[in-house]
Amino acid sequence: MADSKAPARVAWTTRSAFILAATGSAVGLGNIWKFPYMAGANGGGAFVAVYLLCIIMVGLPIMTAEVMLGRRGGMSPISSMRKLARDSGVSSRWAWVGGLGALSGFLLLTFYTVIGGWVLFYIAKMASGSLQGATTVEAQQALSDLLGNPWMVLAGHTLFMVMTLWVVGRGIHKGIERSARVLMPILFVLLIVLFGYAMTSPGFGEAVRFLFSFDFSKISGSSVIAAVGHSFFTLSIGLGAIMAYGAYMPRETINPRTGKRTPVSIGSTVLLVGVLDTVVALVAGLVIFPVVFAHGLAPGEGPGLLFVTLPVALSDVLGGMWVGTAFFVLVLCAAWTSSISIAEPPVAWLTEKGISRPKASLMVGAAAWVVGLGTVFSFNLGSGYTLFGMNFFELLDFVSVNIMLPLGGFLIAIFAGWVLKETHARKELNMKSFGIYMVWRAMVRIFSPLALVLLVVFSLWKALAGEPVAAPEPELAPAIEQPALEQPEGEELPPPDVPAVDSVGELLPESE
Ligand code: PFF
Repeated sequence: MADSKAPARVAWTTRSAFILAATGSAVGLGNIWKFPYMAGANGGGAFVAVYLLCIIMVGLPIMTAEVMLGRRGGMSPISSMRKLARDSGVSSRWAWVGGLGALSGFLLLTFYTVIGGWVLFYIAKMASGSLQGATTVEAQQALSDLLGNPWMVLAGHTLFMVMTLWVVGRGIHKGIERSARVLMPILFVLLIVLFGYAMTSPGFGEAVRFLFSFDFSKISGSSVIAAVGHSFFTLSIGLGAIMAYGAYMPRETINPRTGKRTPVSIGSTVLLVGVLDTVVALVAGLVIFPVVFAHGLAPGEGPGLLFVTLPVALSDVLGGMWVGTAFFVLVLCAAWTSSISIAEPPVAWLTEKGISRPKASLMVGAAAWVVGLGTVFSFNLGSGYTLFGMNFFELLDFVSVNIMLPLGGFLIAIFAGWVLKETHARKELNMKSFGIYMVWRAMVRIFSPLALVLLVVFSLWKALAGEPVAAPEPELAPAIEQPALEQPEGEELPPPDVPAVDSVGELLPESE
């Protein structure tokens, strides 16, 4: 097999290990936290329709390209890109695409772990019952208290960073693969249980209508852009995480009993991961919105949807404390397996430089922890420092997600579609249907790059014009103004001295 000249140094033990790890990477805060609030803020079904279209037309073709490049290169994204560029007879500067990805991953890691840290606190808050019976104002105050306390946010950030790099440091089999094998089943079971619970909620029908009634009059240019960006973020593409995982993907599996060899198809594997990722996002929406609607709360309230509205909505239902705890454990599993994949490309690259994996993880973790301090302080001590109207965290989120990821994805599509020898691409993908291969090729050569250029130009234009990036800026206000029926009157007005709540409202502009 000519392909054997690029063997992966380490390989997942089975195809299902790759599927679990890649799904673990894709399913994260983007699905359970961002997707529902973005759908809520961008008109529900209209956003969902565009998002699904983007997954199919842009996300899956680029994800396929990334896995293909990773498996063909067999090394960290930087080294794989250098090798493939040489094989294709072009400048080895293409390695910079891998470098850009590792840098975006590094930046993403610095704030992903901060949000992961909040999740840790929310598991404790829900399990201890401290939010039982909380009104909206009290739940907002609880979030403000957490974010306003730099030591608490720092502790969460530190713990989540250690958890992430500990797994990465243990290696592909004992670390990444094992964590995916444990955490992903927990995630799926919890999601199914919570879905069953949500189906019995009186708001379920309304939630289904909200997410699946495609009212195209509600689509705006910026919600399309938000959907394109989010499809990228949610599939973990554009920064090399999936490319790094692809490098460990075997070309064939051997049945230990029969000795039968079965080729591992990139196309169908990627399709499965994409479907799982999308289903989790939709089901997460169907878990969250019924409780929101059943309590007369606003779907478009933004980032607070998970950390404020959900605890409030669950605070007065039977077993709400357990449902809430289960929910945040689910979010933790999702966020953890994603942050592991974000850290993998830079760690893999350092190990190629002869540094041991535990040491490389320590180096990446320590550096990301330091840069992450900027995000930690964005919610408290440093909340007053802004550039282009964004605090440190918002700026980092904007630059990495809206500019660097799409740019990385664009370059990956160009490389896979125009630079890599066509015969190499075709051989590595080994698709059964030539028609499907040609559709993929047309997508990565023309359609996906075009869509991405539009996204980057539009995001930059909006940012420089000082407008909020992506559709209606989520606010906490509507949720405050629409009290849950059970709550006594007069308790719903926010006290004037809850500064952090406001910053939470802007906390994550839907920056994709
Ligand atoms: N896909 C993850 C989520 O939805 O939260 C985020 C992510 C992970 C983005 C890995 C990029 C990445 F490489």
